[in-house]
Amino acid sequence: MQVQAPTLEVSVAPADLDAWQGECLIIGCHQSEDAVLLPEPFATLDRDRWSGLVAEAMSESEFKGKAGSTVSTRVSDSIRKVVVVGLGDADKLSSEAVRRAVANGLRQADALKAKTVGVCAASLPSPTSETLAAAIEGALLLAHQDRRFKSAGEIASNGSTFGIESVTLLGFDSEPAALEKAHAIATGTMLARELVAAPANVVTPMALADTAQAIADEFGLELEILDHEACEALGMGAFLGVAQASDMPPKFIHLTYRPEGTPTRKLALIGKGLTFDSGGLNLKVQGNSIAMMKIDMGGAAAVLGAATAIAPLKPNAEVHFIVAATENMISGRALHPGDILTASNQKTIEINNTDAEGRLTLADALVFAEKLEVDAMVDLATLTGACIVALGNDIAGLFSPDEALSEELKSAADRAGEKIWPMPMEPSYADSLKSDVADMKNTGAREGGSISAALFLQKFVEKTAWAHLDVAGPVWTEKAAAYTHKGATGFGVRTLAEWILAQ
Ligand code: BES
Ligand code: MN
Ligand code: ZN
Repeated sequence: MQVQAPTLEVSVAPADLDAWQGECLIIGCHQSEDAVLLPEPFATLDRDRWSGLVAEAMSESEFKGKAGSTVSTRVSDSIRKVVVVGLGDADKLSSEAVRRAVANGLRQADALKAKTVGVCAASLPSPTSETLAAAIEGALLLAHQDRRFKSAGEIASNGSTFGIESVTLLGFDSEPAALEKAHAIATGTMLARELVAAPANVVTPMALADTAQAIADEFGLELEILDHEACEALGMGAFLGVAQASDMPPKFIHLTYRPEGTPTRKLALIGKGLTFDSGGLNLKVQGNSIAMMKIDMGGAAAVLGAATAIAPLKPNAEVHFIVAATENMISGRALHPGDILTASNQKTIEINNTDAEGRLTLADALVFAEKLEVDAMVDLATLTGACIVALGNDIAGLFSPDEALSEELKSAADRAGEKIWPMPMEPSYADSLKSDVADMKNTGAREGGSISAALFLQKFVEKTAWAHLDVAGPVWTEKAAAYTHKGATGFGVRTLAEWILAQ
């Protein structure tokens, strides 16, 4: 899959409304219990040029400036429409609030069929470069439309396409670095969304390897793809055990970004890359969860998306992007429940459930990453349904024995507007992984299943600072909100990019 650039045109211009020619203006307004007033200079503008229509619309709809709320009206001016968007509490205005407010305003402007839209900075307390980047991210991520699998006729007859052609950020300082960052991050998130959204007959292990190749070619990164034989030579019995029933060859992807000078830090990002998880002989039969299992490479998508986001921004850290890509299938060659595999660190694993396959592929990937002598490594994986039960669909579980790394990731996630929550690595829960015949079983107790999964992974980390993000919930959503569409969210790209850029 190729890396695609965002299609929406976004620019920055002075807050001179006489000079700006566009159809629709978006104005932010903070929340207040009393009647909400337009911020200046818009209150004056409304009185003098728009006959007070905006204030009237706000009071008629009892607009309180709540985050996510909008009110709009037609005005008689060269600017024909005004959308007022709620910013929520003034003292809680985060980057994420800006991202969401811009997207909510644009959604409304699009519903009004506006093509050229202005977003005003005047209502923001301090339009910093961070706010500017967030505003652009919100716009670009909302504008992203994935129509790869619909024919042209179908698209034309279904009127739900996004029609805004250009967005001008009025009154922001034009900061090329902020523009560049927002573009890179949106591009990486779009790639991750498209990788997760594509079905398993399109995004195969080979397709993931080809995507890594496209990223390497575009940004001049190093790429090594280990085939079955090379993985065998490294003793990756856990990864290859999962791969053995598939007709598609496994691909172990290792993409490397090296900064120009001496790297400040060496990092590894590891993504679970199951392009389809049938469960294996412990076939997924409950409900219809098997139908969703194209998303089981959401971790890999985030890692490749992060590579796309950071490569053009040239951070000072050296970063290794690692994906053990395969499918979990059934055939005469499939793993039998009870089989014993030997991972690349020589540890033996009794397979008591073939559906706990992600941790097997990650085991060999973690051993590989540690051999690179990185300072820290983070894996992202759609690892357990149990994590969704614990934290719901919008929050990823953060598991790490390393407090400093956890803090770095939490603050990166905060800036990114992605939700992650620390989970305990209760050592006694590892008892349920004990095996009578091998060094460990691959599946522990059902209760606390996301924790025993993390404890399993920990057995493959010797000394490197490590964190695991269980992203089973947030890689996919059934509801559109702000800049997020129904379907693949691209979760993880922004947190990883923020973390690396902060090194
Ligand atoms: N890929 C699944 C986890 C998953 C479930 C991701 C739902 C996204 C949505 C994983 O490989 C799996 O099957 N996990 C099992 C583990 C169990 C066998 C210990 C699970 O969660 O049921
Ligand atoms: Mn599984
Ligand atoms: Zn899986």
